[in-house]
Amino acid sequence: MKNAVLNRIADKSAVIGIVGLGYVGLPLMLRFAEVGYKVLGFDIDQSKVDALHAGKSYIEHISADSIASARAAGFEATTDFSRAPEADALILCVPTPLNKYREPDLSFVLNTIDSLVPHLRAGHLVSLESTTHPGTTDEELLPRIESRGFKVGQDAFLVFSPEREDPGNPNFTTRTIPKVCGGVTEACQEIGVALYGAVIDKVVPVSSTRAAEMTKLLENIHRAVNIGLVNEMKIVADKMGIDIHEVIRAAATKPFGFVPYYPGPGRGGHCIPIDPFYLTWEAL
Ligand SMILES: NC(=O)c1ccc[n+]([C@@H]2O[C@H](COP(=O)([O-])OP(=O)(O)OC[C@H]3O[C@@H](n4cnc5c(N)ncnc54)[C@H](O)[C@@H]3O)[C@@H](O)[C@H]2O)c1
Repeated sequence: MKNAVLNRIADKSAVIGIVGLGYVGLPLMLRFAEVGYKVLGFDIDQSKVDALHAGKSYIEHISADSIASARAAGFEATTDFSRAPEADALILCVPTPLNKYREPDLSFVLNTIDSLVPHLRAGHLVSLESTTHPGTTDEELLPRIESRGFKVGQDAFLVFSPEREDPGNPNFTTRTIPKVCGGVTEACQEIGVALYGAVIDKVVPVSSTRAAEMTKLLENIHRAVNIGLVNEMKIVADKMGIDIHEVIRAAATKPFGFVPYYPGPGRGGHCIPIDPFYLTWEAL
């Protein structure tokens, strides 16, 4: 089974299912389509499916032309999850917000996998890209997939591969941002690395889905802490009559051990203040 999936990825006959066509899913769809894969997009939002079929974009930095090119290359979108067997890979890019108690809200991820499970078939690769707490893939997705009678690693494959999209940043593209990938088993990891390696310049394998989940949290918590730090440093510097920007520029000349962050009202993206709570929830 593993070799059959690897062959389909290698000869580009694999159909790529992207589930959740938002800020993360749409650029990924474009990249797979650009490389020559047939992509089938799934979303629960009919208005997004209609817009994409009309060759329109609903995300500012994604052009209508790029959607039209993907359509010309065979991209289709649907709200019909019973079409999941047409895809070889199912890549989940759905929201992971917080609930009103600032706890992880996995309802989108769980609704998505519950909608897909009845349509899973042997050979499917499921990849979760949504930021989440360590253990989500193993504890939530794995048992649901195996409830269909599949043995993950043999009949079906499961990985976690966090998204590092930086919307609107002209210096990086989906292709050039290295992608971390951890599998439930070695076979899962091999297939996950092959899939992403077909469209992304550098794939970084890690030993488990938990390590991949924790990698994403470390990256975003690093940003959250340092954005908070530099904003507080600005308040202190202002009170001392010191220009914080001059200080950051000077500190950034240190060739090791310092990463410049700049003060401002931005939070580094909407995920940054949310994601630390995913770690807190798991750690407590
Ligand atoms: N936006 C970013 O810059 C960014 C960067 C890195 C990681 N992430 C993470 O990626 C994940 C997705 O974020 P996003 O910004 O793309 O979200 P988004 O809200 O832009 O898109 C999510 C899409 O999923 C769809 N959806 C919701 N429930 C669904 C379901 N049950 N089945 C199918 N589709 C469903 C929504 O209609 C929407 O189109 C989150 O975990 C987020 O934390 C986002």
